[in-house]
Parts: sequence; structure tokens; C-alpha cells
Amino acid sequence: MKCVLAFGPTTSTPSTDRFQPSKRVHVDLITSPDVLQTFVLDQRRHGNTVGLVPTMGALHRGHLSLIDIARRHADIVIVSTFVNPLQFENRRDFDLYPLTQSADEEMCQANGVHVLYRPTPEVMYPSGFSTTVHVAGLSDILEGASRPGHFDGVATVVTKLLTAADPDIAVFGAKDFQQVAVIRRMVSDLGFRVRIIVAPTVREDDGLAMSSRNVRLDSEARSAARGLHRGLHAACEVFATGTTDAAILRNVVIAKVSSSPLVNVDYVHIVDPYSLDIVSEAGPDDVVLIAAVVGGVRLIDNVVLGSNDAPGS
Ligand code: PAF
Repeated sequence: MKCVLAFGPTTSTPSTDRFQPSKRVHVDLITSPDVLQTFVLDQRRHGNTVGLVPTMGALHRGHLSLIDIARRHADIVIVSTFVNPLQFENRRDFDLYPLTQSADEEMCQANGVHVLYRPTPEVMYPSGFSTTVHVAGLSDILEGASRPGHFDGVATVVTKLLTAADPDIAVFGAKDFQQVAVIRRMVSDLGFRVRIIVAPTVREDDGLAMSSRNVRLDSEARSAARGLHRGLHAACEVFATGTTDAAILRNVVIAKVSSSPLVNVDYVHIVDPYSLDIVSEAGPDDVVLIAAVVGGVRLIDNVVLGSNDAPGS
């Protein structure tokens, strides 16, 4: 870290000329893309690099690992916490998405974040907004087939966030495997200069992948949700014994996960990690993707078949 900015609590027009070699960083709340752009330009003028962690708020330990990675790769860390209406194909899911703004502010403050970027929906999508970014192919399969329009919403908002923050690096979680593939394609196709860094999935002690949606699981559903991790783990174990038939591995996952009536499997597929094409013979780099609705809450998870970070390992 070359130097950090120390700002007052939550102003929207930060002064950018007060550098202090202090460890304590006061997070600054910015709500408009113009102010963010000015801030970032000033940082560049002072020779600082910028890291962006795009989130929808409701920050948890998984997000903290993304922030930690951003801090190690950039001088200045911006966390965005915009709950993006465009990526919810289901109004109820949007309405139920957890909002924890003051807790988010505290977590950013305590974890060395310099700027919390929280625009309103009106600022992001003013009346008359009519542009959509569509990454053909990758957006239309798997999660995109089950949630039509979802990845268009993601690609559109990430384009806006990258444009406003113009970061050197942006950190995304590996749990959203297909989202990362869509964003990488988009960044390459549109020529953004940002480097995308993918952070390993952070799990609860019993293996459940951390997600802002987990707070919506009641105790029975929370217990049933462990099945996703167990199913993925079982596939890795069977693969390690030499079974490469994707249909067999897939059935191993489905059998394990479906042992609870609360779990409704949407899909389980073994895919090539780059094209996301479904494979019939699995290799160690291929990825098992699962999506399931558990007690009314949609959860996704994945594992690289031959990896050491297989759940439970
Ligand atoms: O992964 C998320 O939290 C969201 O999809 C993202 C990337 C912040 C876009 O809204």
C-alpha cells in the first residue's frame, strides 16, 4: 500500500488531497458515478492503483475475502453494494433480497475499504435508460436458461460499475462460476482494461457456500442446504477413484442432494471451465455446477472435479 486516504465519515464529495500513512482508513460513501470518476482520476494522479469489489451488499465473510484480495492487489479499494433490479427475473426474489446498509458500512470501515459506492436505482437507471449488454451464448445456458435476462442485468450493471470506477483489478467470487465466465467474456469483448481476479468460495463449517441468500433459509432448509456441498464432494470422491463418465458423476450428486424433500434440484451439470459446454467424459479441470431451490431459496454452488479445494477436503 503506497498511501491511504483518510476521509471523514460519509460525505459525498470527498477531498482527495489528504494523504496519511495511517492504517486506519475511514470509508467514504459515494452515491454518484461522477463523484466516483473524479475520485478515481485523483487517485491515478497520485499514482495509486484501484481495486473494485462489486457486490449487492448484505456483506458476509465471503465478501471480506474478496476485499482482502483487492487490498493485496490495489492501493485503493472500492466496494459497490448496489442491489441491481435488472438481474432479478423474479420480483419476489428482489423484494426479499437482504438489505443491511449500516452493517455493510461498518464492515467496510473495519476492513480497510476506502470507498463504499452505493448509487440509487434512479441514478443507475434514470428514466429513459434503454441499453442492455448481452453476452450471447454464455448468458443463455444453465443459470441463464433458468433465469432469463439475469446475465443481461449482471453484464449491464458491471459495465456501468467498471465505467464509473475504471479499476485496475476487480474481484469476483468463484461461487458464481457462470457469472465470472460471462464477465470475463464481456471484459475481453468490450476492451475494458481491468484485470479480473477470481476468489475461492468461502464456506461455512459444514461446507455450505457463503451467500447473502443464506439468511433466508429457515433451520430445516439450512440443514438441507448442506446436501449441495455433500453432493459435490461425493462427485469429487467418485471421480478420484477413476470414474470419468459424466452421467454417473452427475447422478451421484443428484442422489446425494435429493435425499432431502426440501431440496428441489434445478440442474446438475459437468462443464468445460471455459466454454461451459456440458461434457460427457469428465476431466480434472471440468466443473460440477449445481443449482437448487432449498426451502424456497435458490442456491448455486460448484466445484472443480480434480481440485484440492473440493468441498470438505
Ligand atoms: O455477484 C453479485 O453480487 C452481483 O451479481 C454483481 C456482480 C455485484 C452484479 O450486481
